[in-house]
Amino acid sequence: MKIQPAKSINGKITLPGDKSISHRAAIFSAMATGETRIENFATSADCASTLNCLRNLGVEIRQENSTIFVKGVGKTGFQKPSKNLDCGNSGTTMRLLAGVLAGQSFDAVLVGDESLSKRPMKRIIEPLTKMGAKIEAENFCAPLKIYGKNPLQSIFYKLPVPSAQVKSCILLAGLNAENKSEIQSATSRNHTELMLRYLGAEIEEKFVEAEDGFIQQVSIDGNSKLIAKNLQIPSDISSAAFFIVAAACLKDSEIVLENVGLNPTRTAIVEVLQSLGADISVLNQKKVCNEIVGDVLVRGRTSFAPKTSSNIISGDVIANLIDEIPILAVFGTQIENGLEVRNAEELRVKESDRIAAVVENLRRMNADVEEFADGFRVGKSDLKGATMNSFGDHRIAMAFAVAALFAKGETKIVGAECAKVSFPEFFQTLKKIVR
Ligand code: S3P
Repeated sequence: MKIQPAKSINGKITLPGDKSISHRAAIFSAMATGETRIENFATSADCASTLNCLRNLGVEIRQENSTIFVKGVGKTGFQKPSKNLDCGNSGTTMRLLAGVLAGQSFDAVLVGDESLSKRPMKRIIEPLTKMGAKIEAENFCAPLKIYGKNPLQSIFYKLPVPSAQVKSCILLAGLNAENKSEIQSATSRNHTELMLRYLGAEIEEKFVEAEDGFIQQVSIDGNSKLIAKNLQIPSDISSAAFFIVAAACLKDSEIVLENVGLNPTRTAIVEVLQSLGADISVLNQKKVCNEIVGDVLVRGRTSFAPKTSSNIISGDVIANLIDEIPILAVFGTQIENGLEVRNAEELRVKESDRIAAVVENLRRMNADVEEFADGFRVGKSDLKGATMNSFGDHRIAMAFAVAALFAKGETKIVGAECAKVSFPEFFQTLKKIVR
């Protein structure tokens, strides 16, 4: 993929459905009783992996463009699959389905691609084993052979990492446990909590004081039942982030991104960009299926007046913008004093080692960048077109496509097709709005 520098991006666009929410919509409606219509289901390859796995577990799913219809089988109505369940590149598919499978009365194997087979699964194996499931996995990595049990034991568990995938995995297992399970963790995205409540589960979220400050506590009652209810998926704020940064940094840009998911556990990217001086406003906010949605208006600037004295992004906010850090790094090259990201060691175990990938690609573009074990620092830089490596990671491919718009000369992205993992229409959309 070759990309030329740009002057501006302009237009009004509606992006595909949120990947995180789509995974949950498909899985939870499969666990519900009744049929669900899901509108604006994500076009991402990751969500297609979830649908395939569910079909192999005996769930009937029909698709008409971006609308899907799921016939719920109930919490324990899945069928033993006749083959391994292929999660592709999708950590969310593997970790959430592990929670579902732990509470079934059969065994099944979850497999993934090369990248997913290297990602840490101890974080779900440990709590699911405590709940009574048996899991075989070499070095705590996929393939995972899960021997389910029903009912599972309920659990009180404090997450060692603030991960929404792990929290959701335990909540799904908790739906098939005796009594109430409780999970404590630093805040992470809460789509699972909101959607399970929307579908009728007994689930509570509160903040409690722990040694390390206030943390989130979620409890779920294993006697909960899910009742099918139609769902509308908002556009994906993590996909929107690429266009937000592109428009913010290219003078004369003005874009409106319609119907974007604005759940407060996902909007940290907007808040951080605003605090660093980007011109972003949110319009027409409303609540749809328990999630906040709205339109995002972005205007381009040539210079930024930060509203904060520090350009260091660290601490609890990291979990709430974890997927946006590659594009935030690109933004850092365009602002006075650059920026520093810390406490982001989780980035090293995403679809690629995103700290190493960001640092390597920024260096190739001649940026001033320093790598730390838990993050990086990037200074304001004049980017030069170069050959980028996507490292097979969708968010790296798209972040550096945006960096290419700010660079002098042509940029080539090797392996850009991996963008399809979350956003197959990315390059087409970009081409439409770029000048
Ligand atoms: C996701 C949670 C995050 C995120 C991933 C999607 C989810 O992962 O990086 O892209 O849908 O729950 P972790 O929960 O492992 O941080």
